[in-house]
Amino acid sequence: MVQIACAPIGVVCSPFRQAAGTPIQSSQAAGALGTVVLEPRYADGLADLAGFSHIILLSYLHRAKPYSLKVVPYLDTVPRGLFATRAPSRPNPIGLSIVKLLGIEGHVLTVEGLDLLDGTPVLDIKPYFGDFDRREDVRCGWLDTVREREVVADNRFAAANSEENYASK
Ligand SMILES: C[S@@+](CC[C@H](N)C(=O)[O-])C[C@H]1O[C@@H](n2cnc3c(N)ncnc32)[C@H](O)[C@@H]1O
Repeated sequence: MVQIACAPIGVVCSPFRQAAGTPIQSSQAAGALGTVVLEPRYADGLADLAGFSHIILLSYLHRAKPYSLKVVPYLDTVPRGLFATRAPSRPNPIGLSIVKLLGIEGHVLTVEGLDLLDGTPVLDIKPYFGDFDRREDVRCGWLDTVREREVVADNRFAAANSEENYASK
């Protein structure tokens, strides 16, 4: 199997310092303002991005505890297969957050809708493009049975030591 090495291009500065109380999805994080601070050497890559209202943040959920293949997701009470959930503890704990882009100054992006902890490493940024990313006739499996989606996270997927780095295990 191919080995992959990747390095963060920046870091999230967010109001959330621990998993408990953090929105579980960016769609439920209106008002959660923060910044994405890119390495200055990537600033030129932000040209033409300001015209997009939303961006996709791919991040490394560095404070997630080790994964299990069956998890009880935040929005359910029964175990589900990990890959049928958006649980942060995964073999490769990559986060996908669609956030509102409020502004860009140099290498710093101001965003709204963060569901990420302060200090989360950012792996990539892509523009959200409705024509590419929206789908019709969508089925959502077990999530279609869930009525109440307005919950915030608890600590069920957080590493025991909140400063612990998943990658160091
Ligand atoms: C359910 S995940 C969803 C993240 C992303 N929207 C996705 O679908 O991949 C969001 C939760 O992950 C947790 N989280 C956020 N940043 C994290 C980090 N850096 N390390 C570990 N857990 C994190 C918080 O508890 C947050 O509520």
